[in-house]
Formats: sequence, structure tokens, C-alpha cells
Amino acid sequence: TSPLRLGIAGLGTVGAGVVRIVQTHPELLEARAGRAVAITAVSARDRNRDRGVDLSAYAWEDDAAALARRDDVDVVLELMGGHDGIAKQVLETALDHGKDVVTANKALLAHHGHALAERAEANGRIIRFEAAVAGGIPVIKALTESLAGNEISRVMGVMNGTCNYILTRMESAGLPYDAVFQEAADLGYLEADPQLDVGGIDAGHKLALLSAIAFGTRVDFDGVELEGIGAITIDDIRHAADMGFKIKLLGVAQMTGRGLEQRMSPCLVPASSPLGQLEGGTNMVVLEGDAIGQIVLRGPGAGAGPTASAVMGDVMDLARGLRLPVFGQPAASLRAARAAQAAVA
Ligand code: NAP
Ligand code: HSE
Repeated sequence: TSPLRLGIAGLGTVGAGVVRIVQTHPELLEARAGRAVAITAVSARDRNRDRGVDLSAYAWEDDAAALARRDDVDVVLELMGGHDGIAKQVLETALDHGKDVVTANKALLAHHGHALAERAEANGRIIRFEAAVAGGIPVIKALTESLAGNEISRVMGVMNGTCNYILTRMESAGLPYDAVFQEAADLGYLEADPQLDVGGIDAGHKLALLSAIAFGTRVDFDGVELEGIGAITIDDIRHAADMGFKIKLLGVAQMTGRGLEQRMSPCLVPASSPLGQLEGGTNMVVLEGDAIGQIVLRGPGAGAGPTASAVMGDVMDLARGLRLPVFGQPAASLRAARAAQAAVA
């Protein structure tokens, strides 16, 4: 069988992490996929930057869109970021040129997910994005595959590693915001624009994507009620602790009598609860369905290894021939969130 040929656009924290996995385990990947998985081309802004991995065997493209057009690429990995501009152009180019796409880009999908899903279907292609939500935790796989027989009633959780890291370090080490913010940056957790993290926007993107899959609605990021952690002080954290609580940036999406509700905001949770004990960059996602009841998924939500792990899980599914609709069901059958609300009300 011919190898699955990857073109990687973006060689930062996540992209370099993916190269590292492919170079570390080639036999393991081949044995599991039944075919080799090979990188053929890569792209980033600065060709001369040391990324800690050997790129000499791969073709270099200065223009990521050119990489998405290459004949020797079967799957394009979009690991650059940004909800418009080059990332969107790369996905559209790849789909239009008959390539499947794996991306970690929640911002792009939160803003353009429905249009991109329609474009993928029109071209007979697939977009996979496990790494976009909760880093290394296989939450999209859980919803689209393992829980596909359930009607989902609620999705909730802590979905931003940066915020959880900042809040827990401020509490446990008594350190000021600026010091722990730099630690999160050093761990590779931050978005290129960190306001996306601390403003709750990144977590809101993730909640909107999970809602679309869980409730069969079009991605409705504008429908997420958002509040970040920027206004939380050490005093707030201490007062919460005095009462036996911790402050977490918590997302909740659920179908209620009033329709689909999506909220991402700082919440008090009991210090002794699993959510209260969530430390550092760890994420936790709780899924509730009519048959399963409740399951809790917990794991690393950001950083090179965990995020690259999720990207490679998607690559392996494509190598094995697993072809699921982008949001778990055909784009045409995804309802507008308002229509879903009206149907419930
Ligand atoms: P990053 O470290 O900032 O890397 C971004 C990469 O994209 C860099 O290699 C950069 O090139 C390249 N790039 C930017 N603009 C480009 C352009 N116009 N043409 C070609 N290459 C370009 O970001 P990251 O942390 O790896 O994140 C990448 C994506 O993964 C984002 O969508 C992010 O939201 C998502 N994600 C990140 C994490 C995480 O923990 N970091 C977790 C989940 C999802 P240079 O290196 O030359 O500057
Ligand atoms: N900036 C994101 C976070 C990366 O801190 O969770 C993972 O999506």
C-alpha cells in the first residue's frame, strides 16, 4: 500500500511536536495504519529557525498555500493558527485540490466551520480537528464515535490550559498573574494572541465546536455567553478558598426548556470536587447522554506532546480509511442553533 503523505503548514509548538512523533515511531505508525506515514513537505515563516527537529528530508514551501496544492501531499496539516487569512486559505486550497485536512485550529472552525464542512463535502474530503478541543483528550472521538448512540443533554468542562494553569498557580504558589502568565508561555500553552486565552474566547471556541457535534447544530460561537479570567484577583482566589471553593473557567452547553445554552465563565466549584482539584494545564470534559449517563474525560489540554498526539490520532484514522463527516453528521443536516432552540421551546 502506498504511504500516506503529509504536508505540514506550521512548525511551531504543535507542528514540531508532530514531526517529532512521525520521526520517533515510524514502524509503530506503519504497523498500526497498515501503511507508512511520511512527511513530504513543510512550511513556516522562517526557514532558518531551529525547531529542534531535522527537516532536511522534506521539501520546503515558503508559501503554505503552495504546500496545500502539491501533488505529493495527501493530507494537509494546518498548524499555523488564526481564524482568517492564510490558515483559511490553506484549508480551502487543500480541500479544493483533493486533500484531506487535519487542523488544531479552533478559532478558524468556530468562525467558519459550517462553510468549511460544506466545502469538504462538496469535494468529497474530510476535516479532522481532535487537537482543537481540549488538547490531548479524545473528546471529539468520544462524541462522534463512542457516544454516537446517545442523545447528548449536556457538555461541560475546563477547556483552556492557560487559564487553569494561571488560576491554580496563583492559588497554590501565591504568585502574581504576570509571573504565572510567563510560566504558561514557557510551557507552550498560549495562543499567539494570549487575550484569546485569558478572555475566555479560546475556550468559547472549543465549547461552540463541541456543541455543534453534541447537539447537531451549526457552530454558533456568537451564541456563547463569554467572560474571561482577566478580572480575577489573588484576593478573589483567597476568599473562594476560605469558603472551600476554587475558581475555574468553566464551560457549559446544554439543551434546556429555553433551548441551547452555551456559557463560558469563571465559576466557583467545591475545592474537593474533581473539577476543583484540576491542576495546571489539565483539562476536564464532562459528557452526559441518555444511555451512558455521565462520563468524565481528563488530561493534558495544551502543549507540544499532548496536542501533537491528538493530531496524529486524526492522521492515523485517515491512514486507516476512517471517513466521518466533519461535525459527526452531514453539514446539510446541522440545524441553525435558533431553529434548535425553537424546536425545544
Ligand atoms: P506557534 O507555536 O505560534 O506556531 C505557529 C506556526 O505557524 C509557526 O511555525 C509559524 O512559523 C507558522 N506560521 C504562522 N504564519 C504563517 C504563514 N503565514 N505561513 C507559514 N507559516 C506560518 O503556534 P502553536 O502553539 O503551534 O499553535 C498552532 C495551532 O494549534 C493554533 O491554531 C493553535 O490554536 C492550535 N493549538 C495549539 C495548542 C498548544 O498547546 N500550543 C493546543 C491546541 C491547539 P514560524 O515558526 O516561522 O514563525
Ligand atoms: N491556548 C490553549 C490552551 C491551547 O491554553 O488551552 C490548547 O488549545
